[in-house]
Amino acid sequence: MRTANAFLAKEIHIVGRRRWNRRGAMVTDRYQHVRHHPDTAELTAWAAAEGLPVIGIDNLPGAVPLETTELPRRCVLLFGQEGPGLTEEARRHAALVCSIAQFGSTRSINAGAAAAIAMHSWVRIHAAAG
Ligand SMILES: C[S@@+](CC[C@H](N)C(=O)[O-])C[C@H]1O[C@@H](n2cnc3c(N)ncnc32)[C@H](O)[C@@H]1O
Repeated sequence: MRTANAFLAKEIHIVGRRRWNRRGAMVTDRYQHVRHHPDTAELTAWAAAEGLPVIGIDNLPGAVPLETTELPRRCVLLFGQEGPGLTEEARRHAALVCSIAQFGSTRSINAGAAAAIAMHSWVRIHAAAG
């Protein structure tokens, strides 16, 4: 939520349970449009109706490097849950899955960190000043 606010994502879509921990949002949720979807199918149906490709962000087999991928201007960035990551269904619905390069012993970074990197990658292409 806080990251989406920082990079001015148009909306946040939460898939699954409606309850979430607001503490980390630092009150930014007051300024974000938030939609809820019961499952990935509904989110992807909404995205298709809006003509928005869903770009999965996860370090899964077959993912392409975010560092060398030009994210589309209009898109939905889909992040997985801490622990399981993107579901099989989410992967199937994604037009593309991008991974973030990392080199340490940990298998993954946390979803908030991944979201910041992915959104900033979008900003560098589509919204950087200068
Ligand atoms: C803690 S990760 C868990 C899943 C991860 N696939 C794993 O093997 O541990 C939670 C989410 O953060 C994002 N994420 C974490 N590390 C990533 C990376 N290196 N590349 C892309 N996304 C990443 C993804 O959206 C992922 O679903």
